[in-house]
Amino acid sequence: MKPAIAVVVLLSSLLAVSSAAEKFDFFYLVQQWPGSFCDTRQGCCFPDTGKPAADFGIHGLWPNYAKCGRGRQEELASAVLGEDDVAFLSGVGRRGKCWPEYCDDGNALSPWEIRDLVASLHRDWPTLSCKSGRSFEFWSYEWKKHGTCSNLAQHEYFARALALKARHNLTVILAGAGIVPSDTETYPLSSVRDAIARGTGFTANLECNRDADGNAQLFQVYQCVDREGNKLIDCPLSMPTKCSRDQVKLPVF
Ligand SMILES: *[C@@H]1O[C@H](CO)[C@@H](O)[C@H](O)[C@H]1NC(C)=O
Repeated sequence: MKPAIAVVVLLSSLLAVSSAAEKFDFFYLVQQWPGSFCDTRQGCCFPDTGKPAADFGIHGLWPNYAKCGRGRQEELASAVLGEDDVAFLSGVGRRGKCWPEYCDDGNALSPWEIRDLVASLHRDWPTLSCKSGRSFEFWSYEWKKHGTCSNLAQHEYFARALALKARHNLTVILAGAGIVPSDTETYPLSSVRDAIARGTGFTANLECNRDADGNAQLFQVYQCVDREGNKLIDCPLSMPTKCSRDQVKLPVF
């Protein structure tokens, strides 16, 4: 084989390996408060199964690297080839990336694989987007973008996210600290953070958004999970809290 061809063959096999067993360091389990999703200038739509419960809903279970950079396969390939060839062939830029995504576009979510989970998914992982109204499309998107990089089978991926959510019920944990949905009350961000740390044993990262009047509200909670998707862990990465205010609302849903 000519050297150039050998290199291309080597590179493509290295990149192929990367999709078979994706290397990542932990998951983010991301849950959203439906009141904050809807209480924005943009608003929300209920899924065709009706208005979801006033409970946190799963947004996704996202594989993440502890350090932004390139996967090991891209590092190996760049040692053989030039940087630009790797960037071109793998789609990973020079600055690297912080999480893997779309690891297997041929692996579409099958309704049959998750049939026994569908009732729970409708309750705990509903869509509020106005784009489709069908939660299955939301699950399919999350599976394709993040789940295919999880090294888990379809059923495991969804079952583990549901089990984590049930084990650490954020709505109950916050209520236990007096943090209950209200259209008038605001809560110190530190009290939200402390309540979750006490209730789950682990610190979470918090994300806020703004209502139509510009008030900060608690929007999403990011909890770190081990690589198997089984249990919470200390976050390997401190994510800057995406809240610009110290006082946040938890709007009624
Ligand atoms: C969490 O608690 C709320 C309020 O009691 C309840 O409605 C909800 O079903 C619980 N969620 C899970 C996943 O157990």
